[in-house]
Amino acid sequence: MQAITVRDRDAGVGGLTLTDLPYPHAAENDVIVRVHAAGFTPGELDWPATWTDRAGRDRTPSVPGHELSGVVVELGYGTTGLTVGQRVFGLTDWARNGSLAEYTAVEARNLAPLAADIDHTVAAALPISGLTAWQGLFDHARLTTGQTVLIHGAAGSVGSIAVQLAREVGAHVIGTGRAAARDVVLGLGAQAFLDLDTDSWESVGEVDVVFDVIGGDVLERSTALVRPGGTLVTIAAPPAVQPKNGRAVFFVVEPDRAQLVTLAQRLRDGRLKPLVGAVRPLAETADAMARRRGPGRTIIQVAQDREPERP
Ligand SMILES: NC(=O)c1ccc[n+]([C@@H]2O[C@H](COP(=O)([O-])OP(=O)(O)OC[C@H]3O[C@@H](n4cnc5c(N)ncnc54)[C@H](OP(=O)(O)O)[C@@H]3O)[C@@H](O)[C@H]2O)c1
Repeated sequence: MQAITVRDRDAGVGGLTLTDLPYPHAAENDVIVRVHAAGFTPGELDWPATWTDRAGRDRTPSVPGHELSGVVVELGYGTTGLTVGQRVFGLTDWARNGSLAEYTAVEARNLAPLAADIDHTVAAALPISGLTAWQGLFDHARLTTGQTVLIHGAAGSVGSIAVQLAREVGAHVIGTGRAAARDVVLGLGAQAFLDLDTDSWESVGEVDVVFDVIGGDVLERSTALVRPGGTLVTIAAPPAVQPKNGRAVFFVVEPDRAQLVTLAQRLRDGRLKPLVGAVRPLAETADAMARRRGPGRTIIQVAQDREPERP
C-alpha cells in the first residue's frame, strides 16, 4: 500500500515522502481502516512519539497523521463495537503508524461511527481539533453559561472549533489572532476580536477562562488576565507561571469515542463547522503542507468514494 513516511527529524515537512509499505497488522481490539481522508499537524514532527515507540525505540520510517475518516475493512482478534464496512472517524495512536496511508491499524475505541451524510474530508478535520477544544473548554476549564472565555489563535484549527463550542454553551467569547483573522473569528460567533499585534490586552479585563494554542509570550502574558478561581488552559507547552488565585493546565488531547459522537452530531445538525482549507491527494502531502496557509485545515484525500479491494 502507499503511505507517507518520515525518516529525518531535521527535514521538516519536506521530508514527507510517498513510500510503499506492507499492509498493516490488526492487533487485539484493533480495526484496519481504509483511509479516505486524513489530517496532519505540522507540530507532529516535534512530538517524540513520531520517532519512537512507547518503549523509546526508534520506529522510523514512521507514518505521520493522527486523524482520519474512512471505512473499517478488518477487525482484530476480539474487536467489538465496530463492523466491517462501517464508516468511522477518529484519532490514531500517537506512537504507531498513522493516517497518511491507504490503510492503518487503530484501536477501535479511538474511533466513532460516522453517518453516511457527512463527507470524509469534513470529518477528517474534526478529531484532533474537536476533541482538543472540547477537552480544553469543558473537561479542564469547566466553562459554563455566562462565563467569559478568551480564545487565542481563534481562526486556527483548534481555536475555530473552540469559539463555536463556547458560543453554543452560552459563554461570552473573545477571540484573538493576527489582523487578517478578525472577520473569520467574528463570523464564527465570537463577540469580540483582539489583534495580538496591535490591540491592548489589558482592555479585556479579567476572564473566567483563557484557552491558549500559541504559547510563549502570549501564554505568559495571559496569566494576569485570569480571574480568581479561573483557569488558563494551554495546548502549547507547560506554563512557567501560575495565575494568582487561579490555575493553569497544559494537556495533550486524548481519544474519546463519546465525545467524537457528540461532535459528529453537531456536524450533522450544522452547529459545528470545521474550517477546511485545501484538499490534496496523498502523493502531494509534502507540497500541500509547505504551501499551507490559514485559515482552514489542509486535508489529505487518500481514497475517493469508491471502496477499493483489500490487497
Ligand atoms: N496539546 C495538544 O493536545 C494539542 C492538540 C492539537 C494541537 N496542538 C498544538 O496546538 C497548536 C495549534 O494547533 P492548531 O491546529 O490550531 O494550529 P493552527 O491551525 O495553525 O492555528 C493556530 C492559530 O494561531 C495563530 N497564531 C499563531 N501564532 C500567533 C501569534 N504569534 N500571533 C497571532 N496569532 C498567532 C495562527 O495564525 P497564522 O496562521 O496567521 O500563523 C492560527 O490562526 C499547534 O502548535 C499544535 O501542534 C496541541
